[in-house]
Amino acid sequence: MRMYDLIMKKRNGGIHTKEEIEYIVSGFTKGEIPDYQMSAWLMCVYYQGMTKEETVFLTTAMADSGERLDLSAIEGVKVDKHSTGGVGDKTTFIVAPILASCGVPIAKMSGRGLGHTGGTIDKLESIPGFHVSISEETFISNVNRIKLALVGQTGNLAPADKKIYALRDVTATVDSLPLIASSIMSKKLAAGADVIVLDVKCGSGAFMKEEKDAIALAKTMVEIGNMAGKRTYGIITDMNEPLGCKVGNALEVCEAIEVLRIKDVKNYLSNDENHVQKGIARLLEVSLSLATYMLIGSGKETDETKAREACMEAIESGRALDKLAEFVGAQGGDAGCIYNTDKLPKASCIVPVYAPKSGYVASCNTSEVGMVSLILGGGRETKDSIIDLSVGIDIHKHIGDYVEKGEVFAYLHANRDSVVAEASKRLVSAYTISDTPVVATPIVKQIITK
Ligand code: URA
Repeated sequence: MRMYDLIMKKRNGGIHTKEEIEYIVSGFTKGEIPDYQMSAWLMCVYYQGMTKEETVFLTTAMADSGERLDLSAIEGVKVDKHSTGGVGDKTTFIVAPILASCGVPIAKMSGRGLGHTGGTIDKLESIPGFHVSISEETFISNVNRIKLALVGQTGNLAPADKKIYALRDVTATVDSLPLIASSIMSKKLAAGADVIVLDVKCGSGAFMKEEKDAIALAKTMVEIGNMAGKRTYGIITDMNEPLGCKVGNALEVCEAIEVLRIKDVKNYLSNDENHVQKGIARLLEVSLSLATYMLIGSGKETDETKAREACMEAIESGRALDKLAEFVGAQGGDAGCIYNTDKLPKASCIVPVYAPKSGYVASCNTSEVGMVSLILGGGRETKDSIIDLSVGIDIHKHIGDYVEKGEVFAYLHANRDSVVAEASKRLVSAYTISDTPVVATPIVKQIITK
């Protein structure tokens, strides 16, 4: 086989065989296929696309390019969740303890943040003492004992994806549906769970800005997962504003805890008088949808209504909150923080941001809100940046809310005076306010089951 011929085949709209795709992935990973040929092939894929079969072959070849995590020593059906990335997304801290408290094993591999989206590990590390540097034996035994453990991504998980993604990033070939779907799913397959629930975001803070593109991506990933023998669900959720009210590491842990403390979930979801509660209710709704399908995927419940009720009960009874504390304690963290959030890192000043005019909150540039958190010091500009776990934003108005000129719109939690003016200005300009009423769209847009 010659890479030259395979580039020409794809350029002319041909369909690759499994062997051809394996040749490309393994040749590039080993350094036998140079960057310039791989770049040319990626651009051909960008324009010509890939069939479902080709996308599955690519995903499997990338998943097999390194080690696949062996979770066979964990009892029960292992369920994983993945979010395509958003601002203020703290659903893992809500969903994982709900499932674990229902007896479903969660062996989670997560990443750190880069750019405008935060990372699960950074957020958890805002809990004093919490760490993810546990051995594989401890990881497995913690999941067997308490049903929940979380580690960082190993360097050898789908190394082909890492190398290909770096090339896509500099050759304008990131936003190709088969390339995104295979990239995400190769890592999920290598992470070893039996069931995968995907939170596919759409809107101004997401990879996929349009709902139709998010649906197409979710459908492709669900098909890849099912064809690879993993029961897979895709939940399309809104990312046209941050999820919940809080953005920033410790602030997001705090908000997840607030959700796990809710005593009457149905009542909470139906009350949209209080603006803060409205933001948290959207976070609660996404979390419940993910948890419901994770519970169904585990086989512990078959009926959607019953599964949702079981997830609500895990919150209302306090079992999920206790599970979060147990998990934090098992990974070296101060479990007391879960019951007393005053123990989490706090910024030295809280600065109000006022609405510049009266009207209805009409739209939000969500990535820009993520950038405001970065300006405050809560995110990484480069892989080596040190992040400030205590800073962030607490947003009190959401799309559809009426706001008076001069009313508090949000609070910045900051440690450096020098960045507050710019952060305030950029936060205000991330939103538009309209004179006419605006209706917020539902946060969960569609559920893809096959
Ligand atoms: N996330 C990934 O892991 N890969 C992509 O290609 C896009 C988003």
